[in-house]
Parts: sequence; C-alpha cells; structure tokens
Amino acid sequence: MSKLWQKTTNVDKLVENFTVGRDRELDNQMAAFDVLGSLAHTTMLQSIGLMESDDLALVQKELKSIYADIINGDFEIQEGVEDVHSQVEMLLTQRIGDAGKKIHSGRSRNDQVLVDLKLFFRHQLKEVVESVQKLFTLLLELSEKHKEVLLPGYTHLQVAMPSSFGLWFGAYAESLVDDLEMVLAAWKITNKNPLGSAAGYGSSFPLNRTLTTQLLGFDSLNYNVVYAQMGRGKTERIIAQALSTIAATIAKMAMDQCLYLSQNFAFVSYPENLTTGSSIMPHKKNPDVWEIMRGKCNRLQALPNDVAMMTTNLPSGYHRELQLLKELLFPAFTDIQDCLSMAAFMLQNVTVNTNILDDPKYSYLFSVEEVNRAVLNGTPFRDAYKKIGLDIEQGNFNPDKNINHTHEGSIGNLLNEQISASMNKVLISFDFNKVEEAIAKLVG
Ligand code: ARG
Repeated sequence: MSKLWQKTTNVDKLVENFTVGRDRELDNQMAAFDVLGSLAHTTMLQSIGLMESDDLALVQKELKSIYADIINGDFEIQEGVEDVHSQVEMLLTQRIGDAGKKIHSGRSRNDQVLVDLKLFFRHQLKEVVESVQKLFTLLLELSEKHKEVLLPGYTHLQVAMPSSFGLWFGAYAESLVDDLEMVLAAWKITNKNPLGSAAGYGSSFPLNRTLTTQLLGFDSLNYNVVYAQMGRGKTERIIAQALSTIAATIAKMAMDQCLYLSQNFAFVSYPENLTTGSSIMPHKKNPDVWEIMRGKCNRLQALPNDVAMMTTNLPSGYHRELQLLKELLFPAFTDIQDCLSMAAFMLQNVTVNTNILDDPKYSYLFSVEEVNRAVLNGTPFRDAYKKIGLDIEQGNFNPDKNINHTHEGSIGNLLNEQISASMNKVLISFDFNKVEEAIAKLVG
C-alpha cells in the first residue's frame, strides 16, 4: 500500500518495518483523538476559506462516523498503512473522494501526532485522577474506621513509638494529595494546544490557532510553533514524573503491606482467595498482589529516566525516534491504573489485627510516653529520660499503655477532614468539565 508521502519509489520492506515499529498497534489508542484533531482542524480550515462548506459538511459527517466506529471498537490500522493519521485520511478519501484529500492543508503528521498525544494524555490523566480519588477516599475511610487501633511505629525498622492504623492509612491518603499536585502540573502543561505548528515551523496559511484551541477545549496554546514541537518529549517527561510520584506512594504502601502480612508482624490479613499459594509449602498465603504492585510501581519510577535518556540532547525540531516515546508512556498508564485499582480492591478486604500491642515485645514503644508523663509531672526531660532508661536496663519498665496524643496530625487528632479538604482543593483545579463540554460539542 502506498504512503501518504510516496511519490514513485517503494520503500524497502526492512526499512518500512523498522521505522513503522509498533505504531500500528499503539496508534490505535490515539485513533479517537486523531479524529477529534481533524474535526477541529477542518472547522478552522473552512473558517479561513481553505475548505468549502459543502466539503466541510461531508468531511465532518464521515469523520464522526469514523469516530463512532473507533468508540465501538470497529477500527483498525490496516496492514501496510503506516500510522493512524494515514489510516483516517485514507478511509476518508475512499469514502468521500476529493473532499477527503483537502483536510491536510496547513498541517503535518508531526502536528497531528502532537495534538493526538496531548488529547490522549489529557484523557488518561483524567482517568488517573479519578482512580487516585477512589483510592484516597477508601484510605481515609479506613483511617477513620481504625483510628483507635494501635500499631507499632518503627525507625531503622526497630520498634520505636506507638502509631495507629488511623495514621498509617491516613498517611497514604495525604501522600496521594501531594501526588495529585504533580499530576495537576502535568495536566496544565498537557492542556495547551500545539496544533498549527505544522511540521514544526508553522504555515503560510493564516491558521486560526485560537479557534482550534477553543474547539478542542484546551486551556491555551503553545504559542511559539518551535516550542510546540519541543513539547514532544517534554510533555512525556513531565507526565512520567507525575506518574512516578504516584507509583512511589503505591510502592511504599505495597512494601508495608508485604511486611505487615508477614507472620513476624501479622498486623493485617486478607481473605485466602486474595493471596496465593506455594507449589511446595502447603501453609503459604503469599502477598503476590502487593509484590507485583511493588514491582510495577518501582519500574514506573524508572520512567522519567527512560524518557530523559531518549530525548536528552535532541536538537529542536521533529525527530523520528520521538515515536518510540509511545512505547514508554502508553503501557505506563495501563500499569498505574491496574495498580491503583488493585490497591483499592485489596484494601476493601483488609482485616486489621486489633491486639498487636498486647505482645510484650512492643512494651518499649511506650518508653517516650513514660518519659513525657514524668516531664508533665515536673521532672526535667533529661532526668526522666535517664530514669526510664535505667528502669528498662534493670527490667523494671512497666508502661501505662494508655496514650494521649492530641496535637495536629497525631494519633488522637488525625485531621482527616483537613486532608480531605486539601484533596478537594486540588481536584477542583482540574477543569475536566470544560474539556468534556468541548469534546461533546465537537462530535455532537
Ligand atoms: N508515527 C510518527 C510519530 O509518532 C508520526 C509522525 C511522522 N512524521 C514524520 N515526519 N515521519 O512521530
């Protein structure tokens, strides 16, 4: 099959396969967004007199029908077709003839892939935000539910001070708030329209980039056409940073889970059908879900580096290896979504051990409590510290296990409402509604 750019010569098959790579498979995920880009571009072409109204009507009707096919799963990039941009233009031309050949005025595939990726990433980021929000809500519920249940706190992995399930679950909830601040930064940078940079240097046609910005629901545009093209790689790197921030939170939580599930800790448990067995040891109930999650999330933390290694020192302008970034970013969204939903699924079924601190090995958790009690009764801190230290050495340490932590963010004063309010503040900064409305109008 011939290429959009083919004049006379057939490109070598080996070269074709090597350069097309995994585009046919990965571009499928961008297909709906490619059509949205074309709907906006053609509306704009008509508005500046580069497309007749009749042609526009024909083109848009067909684009909308292709869009519906994509949404219904009835779309594929055929063997021999280079990428999604070629597939859509080819379908249009097959179905409506010459009008289809007019849509590419004033743009380039470099331009198309830029806008497709921004729209695709925007969509994916929205889904990530929604999944983070679900996990956040669950974690805060668990924090409230188990706020009275104490847990050993560790420093150096040595028994340190009393903690609680209220603190533990709430900590991960609050971590997700800051992670969403990173996602918000990624969202803001993604939500700017690159369309109109053409091959990377603009066009001699009087393109109306403000119009396509509005039609696609972008917040603003990448003004400078060279910078718009430079956004390829940069956008990916920033998104990778945001995803890896969430991944770090999940990986840490997964590690805690593996530790707390171990018989040596036995702080939490899960129904047997959520654990996995061993082929040799009949007693095993392994935390494989958390381990796979830890691995996927640790791998995601390498993503910013992978993107940076591939794009560092590329000069400005388009380069074909930018195409390979899709191989890094697209599966990353699947991984983070799987991890977020599995974390929520597991946590819905967690049981916490309510008697952990009855075990005498945790008595020393209360050493600081005893010191503080003596301080409140008038003993200077250093003297109290010494006395309790000696009691411990001489085997005379019998702590009172009632604790009274009242300051902000401590066991007895979790401030979960404030954590919830800070989450809501981040969430309202994502202007999802504006985007949804624009897209609905474009395909309506
Ligand atoms: N598949 C290409 C990419 O992702 C599309 C742009 C092709 N542009 C070009 N000049 N060959 O980058």
